[in-house]
Amino acid sequence: MSDDKKIILSGIQPSGKLTLGSYLGAIKNWAELADEYDCYYMLADLHAITARQDPAELRRTTLEQIAQYVACGLDPEKNTIFIQSHVPAHAELGWVLSCYTMFGELSRMTQFKDKSAKNAENINAGLFTYPALMAADILIYQADLVPVGDDQKQHVEICRDIAQRFNGIYGETFKIPEPFIPKVGARVMSLQEPENKMSKSDKTAGGCIYLLDKPEDILRAFKRAVTDSDTVVRYDPANKPGVSNLMQIYAVCAGKTFAEIENAFAGKGYGDFKTAVGEAVVETLRPIREKALELLGDKAYLEGIYKAGAERAARTANRTLSKVYKKVGFVAK
Ligand code: TRP
Repeated sequence: MSDDKKIILSGIQPSGKLTLGSYLGAIKNWAELADEYDCYYMLADLHAITARQDPAELRRTTLEQIAQYVACGLDPEKNTIFIQSHVPAHAELGWVLSCYTMFGELSRMTQFKDKSAKNAENINAGLFTYPALMAADILIYQADLVPVGDDQKQHVEICRDIAQRFNGIYGETFKIPEPFIPKVGARVMSLQEPENKMSKSDKTAGGCIYLLDKPEDILRAFKRAVTDSDTVVRYDPANKPGVSNLMQIYAVCAGKTFAEIENAFAGKGYGDFKTAVGEAVVETLRPIREKALELLGDKAYLEGIYKAGAERAARTANRTLSKVYKKVGFVAK
């Protein structure tokens, strides 16, 4: 990996299966980036335990996600794919950065407020300081770009603030990263409650599509997707959130513009439209599902990927960590 390429770092919590939303919103775009950028993809298991996890389940979903990343087209030779807890420098830099992150700014994080409102029985300190760890994830690789959904934009902003604060005190240490937010497909909504983002925490049956879902389940979920009492296929997120969401999904999966979709379904009602969207999603996900299941049958191959990834990641991460330890005044080992 050459030094003149810009660096991209992204992470997903291995706390569940990957959704169609995260594929269309983020992962789909990652594969193409490898030629132009030096890319790091991290399974954020340290972040995952800010919510209570079943240990066996966490282990299984972490491996499943690596398999799915590779199946989504991330070439492990061209990309650095690793597990966050395998590179201890993240936790170490996370601690240092938490000392340069203010209580007040953490209190303003909307995700913290949302998550603590939803989980009043487990508002732990890790949930609160999470943005400092996320800043460490990004800054430790001197990342230029961070592909994140809208919900993580505020965390990239606080990361920039922390980096600037640290640089201001100790001199140029961290590169200031930029969020990288893809346009079409950035925000896929629940099929059942289209005012909410498609997410694993969606409790409604059929609201969320997973990459490993069977084709017949996907088709059924799209046939049952919530629309509105109108009959016109038209892009209008404010008044027609369900239909607009289906159009977004169809636009990305079938490679069509909104105008093309509106014309193709003019006068046809929602039935045909929902079937077409479901079929386009099935065809998009079919090769991914097949490849992921094949990889999950080969544990040794998967292990090779994440071990090599962690070694490569640690080389870069340790360089930044040493620099930081020196700047804050720790005695060299
Ligand atoms: N916080 C992110 C999420 O909940 C996951 C994450 C952890 C991440 N570290 C990161 C994303 C660094 C981008 C960069 O989805």
